[in-house]
Amino acid sequence: MKANTRRANRSAFDEVADVYDTARPGIPHDLVTSIVRETGLAPGDQVLEVGAGSGQLTLPLRAARVEVTALEPGGRLRCLLAKHTADDPGITVTGGFFEDYTAPGGSFAAVVSANAWQWIDPAVSYGKAADLLIGGGHLALIWNFPIVADPTLQQGLNEVLALDYPDAVRDPATHLSGIEVRAAEGRAELAASGHFEAISWQVSHDSLRLVPDAYYKLLLSYANAAVLDESARADLFERAGAVLAEHGAETVEMDNVLYACVARLAGIVRTVTD
Ligand SMILES: C[S@@+](CC[C@H](N)C(=O)[O-])C[C@H]1O[C@@H](n2cnc3c(N)ncnc32)[C@H](O)[C@@H]1O
Repeated sequence: MKANTRRANRSAFDEVADVYDTARPGIPHDLVTSIVRETGLAPGDQVLEVGAGSGQLTLPLRAARVEVTALEPGGRLRCLLAKHTADDPGITVTGGFFEDYTAPGGSFAAVVSANAWQWIDPAVSYGKAADLLIGGGHLALIWNFPIVADPTLQQGLNEVLALDYPDAVRDPATHLSGIEVRAAEGRAELAASGHFEAISWQVSHDSLRLVPDAYYKLLLSYANAAVLDESARADLFERAGAVLAEHGAETVEMDNVLYACVARLAGIVRTVTD
């Protein structure tokens, strides 16, 4: 995905850290396994994770026995991340924005990020990741985009969400194609940086079954809802709840669409002259 131009909201998640921690799905192990295979990561390799949240990618990454430095600027999210990973000496939790992060060049075999890369200034992100990587290192970027699986229910929710909360609207007819368009824009941004070339990308699906409260929390965990005040949140939940009741939905089934892209350091092109 291309960098977000509304970077003012990049810290909103920390305002709702507890909600974020319970509501956001972890990155599926299968997807992480596939990325580890493509990047050739081996147990003990050093990996930098950018924008780790409370560990949605960090924990499945550890299943591959790589050593993870998990960078998370939000203090509350970082506390939760430290709590979830406290017993694991293979995870180092650290604070700060990636733009300000420093480590010796060539410190990592891979830089990875889930749902966070778009918050970083692209004038910095690709170049800094390239500097931090060893020769032959990789950048792996993941996003997930859940949509209510029943299109009629999603459309019913859209009618109430569209009034004040258009960012939560998901169009069942264009959800997948929209992700593919945005994914292609992101790959174009990556290629234009001159630092990386995408070697593979994939769209996969995971199912989520949420009770209504978990669905409301999921809505709230997105940056544009996280910044709503208490009364706006209550109003949002009440309106969404009315639609769920109208559809007799005791749980909300969601199709969690995941997009992942693996890129390697771009080769140095040398012009040979006599
Ligand atoms: C949508 S959350 C993703 C969290 C988790 N990786 C996940 O997949 O759920 C975005 C995360 O990026 C972090 N973030 C925002 N701007 C950042 C930056 N410039 N450098 C590093 N992390 C950043 C936020 O604090 C937040 O935890």
